[in-house]
This record gives sequence, C-alpha cells and structure tokens, in this order.
Amino acid sequence: MTIPELLRRTERGEKLTMLTAYDLPVARLLDEAGVDVVLVGDSLGMVALGYSATVPVTMEEMLHHCKAVRRGVTRALVVGDMPFMSFNIAVKETVRNAGRFLKEAGCDAVKVEGGQGSEESLQAVQAIVQAGIPVLGHLGLTPQTAGRLGGFKVQGKTAETAVKLLESALELESAGCFGVVLECVPTLVAQEISRRLKIPTFGIGAGPHCDGQVLVTHDLLNLTGSFHPKFARAFARLDREILSALSKFKKAVKQGTFPSAAESTAMDPEQAKRFKESLRGERE
Ligand code: KIV
Repeated sequence: MTIPELLRRTERGEKLTMLTAYDLPVARLLDEAGVDVVLVGDSLGMVALGYSATVPVTMEEMLHHCKAVRRGVTRALVVGDMPFMSFNIAVKETVRNAGRFLKEAGCDAVKVEGGQGSEESLQAVQAIVQAGIPVLGHLGLTPQTAGRLGGFKVQGKTAETAVKLLESALELESAGCFGVVLECVPTLVAQEISRRLKIPTFGIGAGPHCDGQVLVTHDLLNLTGSFHPKFARAFARLDREILSALSKFKKAVKQGTFPSAAESTAMDPEQAKRFKESLRGERE
C-alpha cells in the first residue's frame, strides 16, 4: 500500500480501512486480512501497557512496538503515532523524532494529534512534511490533550466548534497531510469535512461518511476489558475464546491429559535401557 494508492482509492470512492497493532502476531493478521493501514497508535499505552492515559507513552516505547509491527507487515502502510511531547516542541526536535519512526522503526509515515487552531501544531506538521516524512493528521477528540478538551467527549457539537474543525482539517490538508483521522465528531461535520478534503478522512466515532474507518483492534476483538465506547463495535468476543482455551489448558494439566505421548519425546529404547542401567550403577 502506498499513499498515492490511498488517494486513488479515495477518488474512486473505495472505502479505506485502518486498524491498530502493537505486536507482530496482530500485525501479521491485519496484513493478511488486507487492511490498508496498520496504525501503531499511542493507544498502546492504555490498551497494552496498562497506563491510565496515553500521555506517559514514550518515544522509546513507541519505536519498540513499531519495530515489532513492521516485521509482521509486508503489504499495508505502517503509521507510527507520535507520543505526547515528541512534537509541538522545538521544530528541530519534532522533525528528529518523526524521522526516528522511519529510520529506526521502518514506519512509512507518522500520525500527529491536534492542530485545532494551533499555529505550533501546523508548523510542526509542515516541518515534518518538508523533511520528506508523510504525516497523518488527527482532529476531534485528541486523547493526548483530552483534559484541555473537557475529557473524552465528542468534539464539534456546536456550529462554531464544527466550523473550527472544518477549518483545521483544511489547514492540515494545506500543510501537506496525506490523510486525517476524525475522532468522535458528529456525523454531519465528518461528512462535510470528507466532502471538502481531497485527502482521505478516517473516522472513529465519526459516522459512516468518512473515506475510511479506523478502530482499535483490541476493541473490535473485545479484549479491552469493561470500557466499551459506543462506536467500537465488537466484531468478535475473543476474551471468551481466550478464557475458554486457558481454562481447558488448566484442566488438562490438572487431569494429567496434557501433554500426551504424541506431545512428548520418547527416548530411543537402547539409550533408555543404558540410561536406566547407569542410574542403577549410581545407586550401588
Ligand atoms: O492511538 C490510537 O490508536 C489512535 C486511533 C484510535 C486513531 O489514535
């Protein structure tokens, strides 16, 4: 998958798909399933590392997981999420951090949260793009700055904030983003943004009219515990499947039915005889 191909598909009205991965097995499955974009999101922090927010996630953690995902993907576009305070700092440092995703982790692009009316965010995006690094924007609910937005809430609900979102999306397009994630935005607002932008929009909790849809894979598989945002449809109940397999393992071990003879290694009879003889010799 390439960025020009994503744009061609958007022009043809073909819906795009993006899902998150943090490790090799999931990355391999997403690639095999034909998902267009594999996002190593900083949701890593909450979903896989047990943090209560995405803010503590570090560059080193992101790069570590991006490298694992890269090894599992041969076809899809791999996008690494820039963690909190790795951008919107000195421009030189921002560009250096973005570059590490490509140089060290083999990502194809980076994602940057924010830009809602912020000159610094736009400058950061422009500088990264100018350095030859493709950037995916992210507007609406931006978890890294959820506190400033009043929590994990739908953004752009009033006419004024909706217009601001639309303007920000157009600015990100002009700054050179190849696509924009729209998170938790009313359907009408996401529809209008998608209509006006040439680059694809990827919606999450943003209704059906975006050019593509993105979800956290662990949500889709019901592996994130008790928190279920309404937009995160569980397409499978892997938690149940996994629990059932784990209790079957436990039962088999306790009953002595695992491992079976076929799952174990028998010794060559001659060697077994000699081994037993040497044990006898030891005792005498
Ligand atoms: O971090 C993440 O996984 C994301 C997606 C939810 C878009 O930003």
